[in-house]
Amino acid sequence: MATAPAKVEREFVDGFLRDAAALAGYRREVEESGLIEHLERATTYFWDTVAGETARGGRYNTGRVTGREGYDEGMYLYSIVRALRPSVAVETGVCNGVSTAFLLLALKENGSGRLYSIDYPEIAGADYGPDEFWEGKGGAVIPKGKKPGWMIPEELRESWELILGRSQERLPPLLERLGEIDLFMHDSEHSYECMSFEFGAAYDALRVDGVLIADDITQNTAMSDFATAHDRTPIPIGVKMAFFVK
Ligand SMILES: C[S@@+](CC[C@H](N)C(=O)[O-])C[C@H]1O[C@@H](n2cnc3c(N)ncnc32)[C@H](O)[C@@H]1O
Repeated sequence: MATAPAKVEREFVDGFLRDAAALAGYRREVEESGLIEHLERATTYFWDTVAGETARGGRYNTGRVTGREGYDEGMYLYSIVRALRPSVAVETGVCNGVSTAFLLLALKENGSGRLYSIDYPEIAGADYGPDEFWEGKGGAVIPKGKKPGWMIPEELRESWELILGRSQERLPPLLERLGEIDLFMHDSEHSYECMSFEFGAAYDALRVDGVLIADDITQNTAMSDFATAHDRTPIPIGVKMAFFVK
């Protein structure tokens, strides 16, 4: 059953932020930033240029629900980054760049911190062999001629590094290079194996009180298994998105 917005808000404040006024302030910052209007215009371009089916038989999509549900998730991602003030944040799964844009907007508002994102993109209309992506992959694509994260406003890109490749190959050397991290977000390959691998690698690098976030946690039990094994209770920030503090 979907988690009602009011319940999500209550659990977020009670279980993490402990300050309802701060959440209202973060929501206002997002609304006043113009990011949502920018993403809406980019989404219109996406649907004007992208049509069709993936090699696996599904419909193409942007990788993030837009409208209230998706932007609310973005607002919670923004709020986590504003409250945590990470110096080093790592994300897997960029696609068109909606979640990345919210994370970067918060870093800009913080005036500090850097985001490192890994993506292995699927391009709309391109021909791929059957084994190019994991078998459960949905239709998240970027338009032909665009790069992962193309929806991110230019003024937010200064604090961003994009690493192209599969997280299974790119995440270990990235974490090795970065040392301790403050925040990790998974939104790449939602197989049990990949999610468990990413959580394990990121958790080892995560500082105490750092935050681990995952999207599409309803695909399998990787998030709940990992949280249970580490005696943590995930806090929902959307229908399929949750996080916990180390
Ligand atoms: C659901 S989309 C990400 C959506 C994005 N976080 C947002 O909010 O707009 C997943 C992305 O991960 C990419 N991907 C799939 N398998 C991957 C892998 N093994 N490593 C890295 N990226 C992968 C997909 O091609 C796609 O670009």
